Amino acid sequence: MRKNIVAGNWKMNKTLQQGIELADEIKNLLTGQKLRCEVVIATPFIHLASVSEVVKGSVIGLAAENCADRFSGAFTGEVSAEMIKSTGATYCIIGHSERRTYYGENFEILKNKVLLALENDLKPIFCIGEYLEERKKNIQNEVVGKQLDGSVFNLAAEDFAKIILAYEPVWAIGTGLTATSEQAQQMHAFIRSLIAEKYGKEIAENTSILYGGSCNPANAAELFSKPDVDGGLIGGASLKAGDFKTIIDAF
Ligand code: 13P
Repeated sequence: MRKNIVAGNWKMNKTLQQGIELADEIKNLLTGQKLRCEVVIATPFIHLASVSEVVKGSVIGLAAENCADRFSGAFTGEVSAEMIKSTGATYCIIGHSERRTYYGENFEILKNKVLLALENDLKPIFCIGEYLEERKKNIQNEVVGKQLDGSVFNLAAEDFAKIILAYEPVWAIGTGLTATSEQAQQMHAFIRSLIAEKYGKEIAENTSILYGGSCNPANAAELFSKPDVDGGLIGGASLKAGDFKTIIDAF
């Protein structure tokens, strides 16, 4: 059966020292707790090696927020999937809307990133979601379908089965506008139906699909109560250990 997962995406926040402190706080809050979901934190690259030491032996999994679309070599400023893996991280967010929007990451680039993450034994947390204009035109299903087709539906079934999806409607990210739990459920069920068409019912049922976009301690329980919402990818609310813990407790 698929896993429930609560993942924090720190984005470009926290100095190294603050990040270590936050990871330590989260670890302490979770120690000895009976959890009904997996917990992941995604940190900036420079935090990974240090935070990896902090979370070692705990229930917390570690993710990068991005990886390079090339294996290695003369790509100044880039960080490869292999380097990420060497820090102890085991997940990698790929295709976040901020990467697509501000850094021009297109379907082809993201396809390469997913392949490299998988080759290096990192679990991709692959993000998809529509802009407000697209939802207003009621073409959100088409948009999300194309994002899947363009970057992950090329994978063989055994590789696709390693992927975690995160539906993040762009209009809900950092805006305080959350998708209603019905909107989230509808989209997640649609995504699962596409996976079933492509890879069969079993893989579809086993794929974790997280919701992201202004998910917070007040709305998490309602969102997670929906049958196809298998957890959350949390931005702002993951920067405070207490809030993040409350979201984890929503399960
Ligand atoms: P917020 O929770 O801050 O809206 O961010 C969501 C997100 O983009 C997580 O990846």
